[in-house]
Amino acid sequence: MNSPLDAIDNCTLHALPDGRAVATRLGIRNASTRRHQRDAAHCICIARGARGSQRATPHQSCAGTMLALRLASRMTARRASSRRLSVPSVMKAAVVREPGAADALKVESDFPVPDIAAGQVLVKNAFAGINFIDTYHRSGLYARDLPFVGGQEGGGEVVAVGSDVKDVKVGDKVAYSVFGSYAEYTAVPAAKCLPVPDDVPMDVAVSCVVQGLTAHYLTSDAHAQLIQPGEWMLVHGVGGGTCQWAAQMAKIRGYKVIGTCAKGKGDIGKATGVDELILYDEAPGTAYEDYESVDGLAKVLEITDGAGCKAVIDGIGKATLDMSLGSLAQRGIFVSFGNASGAVPAYPPLRHIAKSSFMCRPKLLDYTRNREELLYRSNEIMGWLQSGQLKVSVDTSFPLDQAAEGHKYLESGASTGKVLYRID
Ligand SMILES: NC(=O)c1ccc[n+]([C@@H]2O[C@H](COP(=O)([O-])OP(=O)(O)OC[C@H]3O[C@@H](n4cnc5c(N)ncnc54)[C@H](OP(=O)(O)O)[C@@H]3O)[C@@H](O)[C@H]2O)c1
Repeated sequence: MNSPLDAIDNCTLHALPDGRAVATRLGIRNASTRRHQRDAAHCICIARGARGSQRATPHQSCAGTMLALRLASRMTARRASSRRLSVPSVMKAAVVREPGAADALKVESDFPVPDIAAGQVLVKNAFAGINFIDTYHRSGLYARDLPFVGGQEGGGEVVAVGSDVKDVKVGDKVAYSVFGSYAEYTAVPAAKCLPVPDDVPMDVAVSCVVQGLTAHYLTSDAHAQLIQPGEWMLVHGVGGGTCQWAAQMAKIRGYKVIGTCAKGKGDIGKATGVDELILYDEAPGTAYEDYESVDGLAKVLEITDGAGCKAVIDGIGKATLDMSLGSLAQRGIFVSFGNASGAVPAYPPLRHIAKSSFMCRPKLLDYTRNREELLYRSNEIMGWLQSGQLKVSVDTSFPLDQAAEGHKYLESGASTGKVLYRID
C-alpha cells in the first residue's frame, strides 16, 4: 500500500534501503474501531521519503491517528534529504579477474551496482585515486579474492544511505578509502566518509585520502616524537605523491627538512618549501632518481654538520636503505613506509647500534583506527588546503575506460603528483 500514512496504530516505522519507511503494526489484535480493523488487514504502510525507525504513539481514537500522522509527516520532512536518488542496477567498473600486468585491469560495463548494508552509503564516484598498492593487488603481489573491482580511494556524491546512518545524507560530498573505487558506484561505511568542504575540489579531496592521510601520520606520529620542531628530517622522493605532501606537512610542523628528488621534478620539490633539496639525475630511460648519480649521504651529513637527521621518511625502499640508515642522527628514527623501488631487504638489527637508532614500518590503517582519528587527520588537512598552507599537485587523470593506462603511467615512475581516474 503506497498511499500516504493515513492510519497508524501503535506502529513502528522502519527504514527501507531505498529511503522509504515501512510502518509495521504491533497492536493489530487490539484495534478498537472498524477503521483500525480495516487498517490492520494491511499491516504495513509505506511513506515515501521517510527514513529511520521511530515508534509512533499508541492511540485509541482518530485524535491518535492525527498525532501519528503528524509524526509521520514530520519524519518525512526531516528525512527528505536522505532519500535515495535514482541508481541503475549495473555500472561501469575496472575489474581484475586474473592477476597480472596492467592489462589485467578490464573495464566492464555490466558489473552489478553494490547493495548497501546497514551503516553504509552508496557513493556515485567522480574520481578514483590510483595508488601503488592497487598495482600490488592487480599483479597478485598482495593476494585478493577474485574477481574484484580495483582501487581503494575515491570520492563523489552520496546517492543513497542505508539504515543506521546518522551523520551522512544524500547529496553530501565525501571522499573515502574503501576497496572497489574504480567504479561508478561504491558502497562505503558511513564511518569512513570524509566530509569534503565546498571550496575543496573533489579531485584534490580524493588525492588527500591515501597520500594526504599517510603524509599526515608520517609527519605527526610515526616518528614517535623522536624529532622535535627545529630538528632535521630527511624526506625522500619529494617530487612524488605522498612525500610531496609529507615535505609540506613537515614544514608546517616546524621541522627543518631535506628533500630528495629527480632533477626533472626539481620545480615540484622546490615548491614544497623544503630547506634543502638534493637533486639526482634520472635513471636512464626512467623519470625517477638514479641514486648513484650523487652522494646523497655525504650531502645530508654536510647539511647537518655531521649530526644527521632525527627522522628519515622513506617510501622508496630498496634503493635508499643504505642512505636512510647512514643519515640517521643519534637516537633518530628510520620510518620506512613504502617500496617504490622494490622491497626493503632484510638487514641485521646491529646496523642500528652505531647511533642507537630506531626503525618502524607503519601502515595507514593503524593510524586511522577509528572515526575520531580519521576526522582529526582529514579535518586538519582540509583546513590546510582551505587556508592555502598546503598545496596539492594533481598530476593527471585518465578516463576510467583507460584503466590499464593509468596503472602503466604510475608504474613508469613518471608521475609528478596524484594520478586519478575520472568517472563521468
Ligand atoms: N605504509 C603506508 O601507510 C603507505 C601509504 C601510501 C603509500 N605507501 C607506499 O609508499 C610508496 C610510495 O607511494 P606514493 O603513493 O608516494 O607513490 P608515488 O607518488 O608514485 O611516488 C613514489 C616516488 O618514488 C620515487 N621512485 C624511486 N624509485 C622508483 C622506482 N623504481 N619506481 C617508481 N618510483 C620510484 C619517485 O620519486 P621522484 O618523484 O623523486 O622521482 C616517485 O615519485 C609505495 O610503495 C606505496 O605502496 C605506503
